[in-house]
Amino acid sequence: MYSNKFVGPRRGRSFDSMNIAFEEKLLNNEINKSTFTKIDEKTEKSNAPEKRGATIIFSLKNEVGGLVQALKLFQENHVNLIHIESRKSKRRNSEFEIFVDCDSNHEQLNEIIQLLHKHGNVVDMEPPDNSCLLDEGDMASVPWFPKKISDLDKCANRVLMYGSDLDADHPGFKDNVYRNRRKYFVDLAMSYKHGDPIPRVDFTEEEVKTWGVVYRELNELYPTHACREYLKNLPLLSKNCGCREDNIPQLEDVSRFLKERTGFTIRPVAGYLSPRDFLAGLAYRVFHCTQYVRHSSDPLYTPEPDTCHELLGHVPLLAEPSFAQFSQEIGLASLGASDESVQKLSTCYFFTVEFGLCKQEGMLRAYGAGLLSSISELKHALSGNASIKPFDPKVTCKQECMITTFQEVYFVSDSFEEAKAKMREFAKTIRRPFTIRYNPYTQSVDVLKDTPSINSVVEELRHELDIVGDALSRLNRHLGI
Ligand SMILES: [Fe+2]
Repeated sequence: MYSNKFVGPRRGRSFDSMNIAFEEKLLNNEINKSTFTKIDEKTEKSNAPEKRGATIIFSLKNEVGGLVQALKLFQENHVNLIHIESRKSKRRNSEFEIFVDCDSNHEQLNEIIQLLHKHGNVVDMEPPDNSCLLDEGDMASVPWFPKKISDLDKCANRVLMYGSDLDADHPGFKDNVYRNRRKYFVDLAMSYKHGDPIPRVDFTEEEVKTWGVVYRELNELYPTHACREYLKNLPLLSKNCGCREDNIPQLEDVSRFLKERTGFTIRPVAGYLSPRDFLAGLAYRVFHCTQYVRHSSDPLYTPEPDTCHELLGHVPLLAEPSFAQFSQEIGLASLGASDESVQKLSTCYFFTVEFGLCKQEGMLRAYGAGLLSSISELKHALSGNASIKPFDPKVTCKQECMITTFQEVYFVSDSFEEAKAKMREFAKTIRRPFTIRYNPYTQSVDVLKDTPSINSVVEELRHELDIVGDALSRLNRHLGI
């Protein structure tokens, strides 16, 4: 449930965006940094937790007595003013803006805000320190999500379908040798824990032969059908992981290769995961990969993802930094989101990471793994007969995903950067009472739901900006500027 505290003063903006906007002003030196320092000091000294430092910015018409009237509201509500600044309004010439630092509790702040609206216009607000977007009840209603990479152990084995139980129409359904082999792969995946090396598999002659057929046929299409990023990275997979027609790469080698390229790692999985569990892995740059090979009776068809799909479809692009970032952002947006939102994100994932197209040098090219691992659908998607629409998450998220037939429509982006920008905007519309930030040092996520957690991000950004500033000044000195 979304907390409705401070609904009035928000005026349509999200609470965290106000904080960030406020912090942006701080970073831009529009607001004196000492103001925040004072709030921190005040909070430490205060023995009355119900009254803490709060900051309000409001605008007033430039007329005699306006400021006195506004400040009287604070006095009448027994709110102690600590610090006041004024400046000419940047929005309207006829107004000026007042920055007020005060002691207040939530109720007083609400009252003041409402009264100020009658006299002027509240521009921005920093709530009392440690005020939180969520109370315990709100957090309890948020669906569980992994907070650190090892938490994926809790959800990586919740396989929805297949595993070792094959449907009656599966090519391997009546093949007991194949079914036993699948059981072997299920056991490997189910006993895997974060940090373990991925077990190496001695692939059978039959499995390597099946892989070889898929590899050979697809490699004939790639030069004219795959996007340039794919074509750039595929040889690296051969060079670093032994990806050849006569050799199936080991997931452990692939994982090490990806880790060096983009920080992505592989985690073996027994079959289909729920969209929520699968996307959660992406948030941590973890890609769940099947390790079994499709049934040998029809090497060019599989009703489920297999290691040919993962290795030839997904891995070359996971080695591309911009694509890796795009994949992770979809994952981060899914953490703690509602079932409905996860479904929308999952559909966007499906029509990009699995079946996405892009335009390069005026030609359509595939970057989706579902296309790059399916000879017939790859040809169809670029045949000129398929329905193609521009990728727009608001539209794409409503498209039906076809599992056993070709897609009715494919979505095209100009670049991963463009797709990422659109997904980023779309993610902001997802209703979630907090923002998530990935912490690469600890491979965990920071839940930004209160002012201290947001301020800590600002501190980190300041440090990063210091580094940029230092680099620029060194460069200028070097160039004699
Ligand atoms: Fe896939």
